[in-house]
Amino acid sequence: MRKIFMLAFILILALVSCSYSQENITIGACIYRFNDAFMLRFRNAMQAESEKSGAKISITDGQDDQNTQDAQIDEFIANGVNVLIINPVDRMTSQGIIDKAKSANIPVVFINREPTPEMLNSYERAYYVGAKAEESGTQAGQLIADYFKAHPEADKNHDGKIQFVMLKGQNGHQDMILRSKYSVEAIKAAGFEPVEIASAIANWDKLQAMNIMNAFIMSIGPENIEAVIANNDEMALGAVEALKNNDYNKGDPALYIPVVGVDANASALDAMDKGEMLGTVLNDADNQGASAVKLAAALASGKDINSIGYTITDNKYIWIPYQKVTRGDK
Ligand code: BGC
Ligand code: CA
Repeated sequence: MRKIFMLAFILILALVSCSYSQENITIGACIYRFNDAFMLRFRNAMQAESEKSGAKISITDGQDDQNTQDAQIDEFIANGVNVLIINPVDRMTSQGIIDKAKSANIPVVFINREPTPEMLNSYERAYYVGAKAEESGTQAGQLIADYFKAHPEADKNHDGKIQFVMLKGQNGHQDMILRSKYSVEAIKAAGFEPVEIASAIANWDKLQAMNIMNAFIMSIGPENIEAVIANNDEMALGAVEALKNNDYNKGDPALYIPVVGVDANASALDAMDKGEMLGTVLNDADNQGASAVKLAAALASGKDINSIGYTITDNKYIWIPYQKVTRGDK
């Protein structure tokens, strides 16, 4: 009898100390810029998961400045956080962040902006949570190809080719490079010949994209543009604004240009419902945010990272799948 009491006591002690250690975890998280519609969804997901699991998370705004973010990382380390979640301003400087984490012996989970495999492999406690950029590019291109299959009249100059303009995200971002490339590849793979008539970097930003699209419309003429491919929804919505200002995409089928983005932000889904935007690709912020926090908490508490409910690939990556979204899917 006494033995059983003793055993129960030890078990309770173990349970209490287990939840105690989870609740005592502090996560220092750095976002490249708070003023980013997609990263807002990501932040909310991390906050929600932290509340659920009892981990303490503190999230800072890098204001799109790597020096500002570096100082925030230094402060987190000085304050003794147990784990870092980093959305680098410039993913190519991630080695410096990894070196800092390594010398403090703190695990680090990168999100949304992918360090190179060489960088991640330089520290066994460095990880990446994100989505495969090429997958989103392919799916965005397929949305355009599917539209042209269903609407032969979308080939306005009847040359059998798709004359498109491209709005690109920030320079050097893997999503900018690979979405631009694979969207065009997917159009080719579907049997069309894509022709880029203009492209520009709009830094993921709606206003910049609107101004650029306005300039394209003025110089090229809207009647000569057959499709708009944007690396994210904010830029797609900027293009939609510019088109609407020129009486396009307001309901008249003769004045319509298919526009695609990536993210599936609420504002893009609204534009799709109104028929102003063709489609988007779900960039699953909920699962990326939740898995990043779960992985960080497991790393900090010494829990088996393979038991958090997400697949860890190559002992380094959590890949959350993209998903095409068209009108009616909402
Ligand atoms: C999203 C963009 C966002 C960027 C920030 C991308 O994955 O699609 O909307 O601005 O990440 O790094
Ligand atoms: Ca054409």
